[in-house]
Amino acid sequence: MYARMRSAARQIGVTGLAAAAFAGAAAVGVEASSPVSMERRAELRHLLIQDCGSCHGLSLGGGLGPPLQAGAIANLPAEFVAATIYYGRPGTAMPPWQPFLTEAESLWLANELKGLNP
Ligand code: HEC
Repeated sequence: MYARMRSAARQIGVTGLAAAAFAGAAAVGVEASSPVSMERRAELRHLLIQDCGSCHGLSLGGGLGPPLQAGAIANLPAEFVAATIYYGRPGTAMPPWQPFLTEAESLWLANELKGLNP
């Protein structure tokens, strides 16, 4: 499932799909669209270690879920990563974080994982 989705993503260019879902946030950028406060950033970093780490490994090097380190997801567009976080992957253990995160926060997390945040 996971491998299939990834290769499908490459073929059809999931950027378009995910970007549509994240049009608002992606178009103007995280900073401008909905500022993620410094306090909230600290909470989100904590979430990455505590919650995401429980499945993706303590240093996000992989566990039940695949590695999320910058190198491992370098080929995935930030909007696609953000959509995965926000909506989860139905039929897999990857849960949707929609109840806990805004789209802008999901995109911030995606950029954080990719090492793109200032
Ligand atoms: C209950 C376990 C679990 C938790 C908690 C979890 N994930 Fe996942 N995650 C998975 C699994 C399993 C997959 C692989 C899904 C698949 O087969 O496509 C995945 C996939 C992903 C992917 C796609 C990676 C890729 O290479 O395509 C991203 C990004 C991701 N998770 C981010 C996160 C973030 C960020 C968090 C915390 C907010 C998180 N996950 C929490 C289990 C989890």
